[in-house]
Amino acid sequence: MMHLLCVCVQGLDLVGKVLSSAVAFSSYSEDSLRTLLNTSGAVDMYDAAFPYAAYNQDALLHPGLASALGISKHGELMDLVGKELALRAWYTGDLQRHKEPGRRELISPLLFAAALLAGDIQVVAEYSATGTVAKGSIDYVLMFYWFSIVVMEGKLHEQLLEHSGQLAAGMRSVREQFNRTMLRKRKHEPEGEFSQVPSIGILSSGTQYIFFRYDPAAKLVTRTSCMTVPLLMRLRPRKPLKVLITGAAGQIGYALCPMVAAGRMLGPDQPVILHLLDIEPSQNALNGVRMELIDAAYPLLQAVNTFTSVEAAAKGVHVAVMVGGYPRKAGEERKDVMAKNVSIYKSQASALAQHAAKGVKIVVVANPANTNALILRENAPGIPAENITCLTRLDHNRAVGQVSERTGTHNTEVRNVIIWGNHSSTQYPDVNHGTVKGQPIRQAVADDAWLNSEFITTVQQRGAAIIKARGLSSALSAASSVCDHVRDWVLGTPCGRWVSMGVVSDGSYGVAPGLVFSYPVKCSGGKWSIVQGSH
Ligand SMILES: NC(=O)c1ccc[n+]([C@@H]2O[C@H](COP(=O)([O-])OP(=O)(O)OC[C@H]3O[C@@H](n4cnc5c(N)ncnc54)[C@H](O)[C@@H]3O)[C@@H](O)[C@H]2O)c1
Repeated sequence: MMHLLCVCVQGLDLVGKVLSSAVAFSSYSEDSLRTLLNTSGAVDMYDAAFPYAAYNQDALLHPGLASALGISKHGELMDLVGKELALRAWYTGDLQRHKEPGRRELISPLLFAAALLAGDIQVVAEYSATGTVAKGSIDYVLMFYWFSIVVMEGKLHEQLLEHSGQLAAGMRSVREQFNRTMLRKRKHEPEGEFSQVPSIGILSSGTQYIFFRYDPAAKLVTRTSCMTVPLLMRLRPRKPLKVLITGAAGQIGYALCPMVAAGRMLGPDQPVILHLLDIEPSQNALNGVRMELIDAAYPLLQAVNTFTSVEAAAKGVHVAVMVGGYPRKAGEERKDVMAKNVSIYKSQASALAQHAAKGVKIVVVANPANTNALILRENAPGIPAENITCLTRLDHNRAVGQVSERTGTHNTEVRNVIIWGNHSSTQYPDVNHGTVKGQPIRQAVADDAWLNSEFITTVQQRGAAIIKARGLSSALSAASSVCDHVRDWVLGTPCGRWVSMGVVSDGSYGVAPGLVFSYPVKCSGGKWSIVQGSH
């Protein structure tokens, strides 16, 4: 049976096309969907935004939606979405899809469907494939044989309800339009079976969804329910977030600041304010970094402030990247360095506990990263232990890079490697649960001898190899990995994937509780959880 009759897109006035072989959403492979959405190059964002991987088909729908659509399960909704997506892809055509409005016409229905599944998945609102921020409202209408949906998008959060009259009028006029163009009925002619078809109206700000139902018998539009998508920091996307970078005048700082300012860490629609901290002797260099950031005129960068006082630098920060610390110098004992770092991290901990924004997310980069994170945690009792992490993503990315090179596959196709332990040469890179293009890594590499020896030592000693080659330690890759670490933590890991993070142990895998240890983690809703069963 052909369920789907037509989609009429307001503004584009495309009415009257019929797709007879719509494809169920669940039958798309990830790759074909990517091709369809034309999202290559923005894969990670879309992974986070769209629920095209594993989802619980039998989970019950939001009650408002279930009653409005007359279906009950996620699986049923996703099949509808799939049909609609297929239709839209076919409708907008290749050329249209390359243009921003065309692309949005294609992705918006998925976005709202994802929102309807709120709680199960994470939605990143207002993203586009090119990284541009959506502006203005894009309204569209979906007409199905047995129901229609009118969506008004892009209204201001606070004023959403003020548009309900407009939506009701829109819902009525779309029905009339459908009647005339599709059913070929004149104005006062009886609507026949169509008069039984309800319509759904959705007012959406991208994060808030208010549902309406048009009852054809009573000719009334009534509000059914309202839901807000849990978007973490994205509820008010225009408010800048403050990011503290300590040791910002150093090598990693110089690479990291532009990445954060360009949206690599918190998303391409998230304005940021940088708080750059360094010690007094580095203030000239730090000021130079500040000048360069201003000269680069990053659209997302609202302000750059430099500090020598950690108390002032920590004020109101949402993310803190702890890069600064005392480095080990020739002839110095490890314990001397540790003692210096203990005092630095103690004072930084208490400054963050007192002055940072509630819920601040901290990532410690400075070595020894695991130990520094532990010191920080012990001296910042007000900050929940799960908010203090350390960076092992660089090692994770190094493992991905090695497998990618060895198999001649793009790094995005290498998934679910694990770094266990410390950010040090004692870490253990593990490929036993990973895949390359869906195939187990061991099978794809087909060289256990290499995986069991050279691969492990290459990853473990990559830092030393870079120092040898460059005369300086890794900075660019460290900075990029910091962005990956925070982005996945805040915006969520893609469906079915995990990443490595140094986090406080809960005793998982026999590691003493309280230690900061690198595990495989999945992130959702701004929280990480240790992936179990990967022995
Ligand atoms: N976890 C990882 O994956 C990883 C990777 C690479 C480097 N690192 C570590 O990151 C740290 C920084 O590396 P880098 O190459 O940028 O070093 P760097 O020496 O170039 O920069 C460090 C900066 O920290 C500043 N600093 C020193 N004490 C400070 C304090 N008390 N408060 C604020 N700033 C202070 C210094 O003035 C300097 O500008 C090192 O400890 C390095 O070992 C970790």
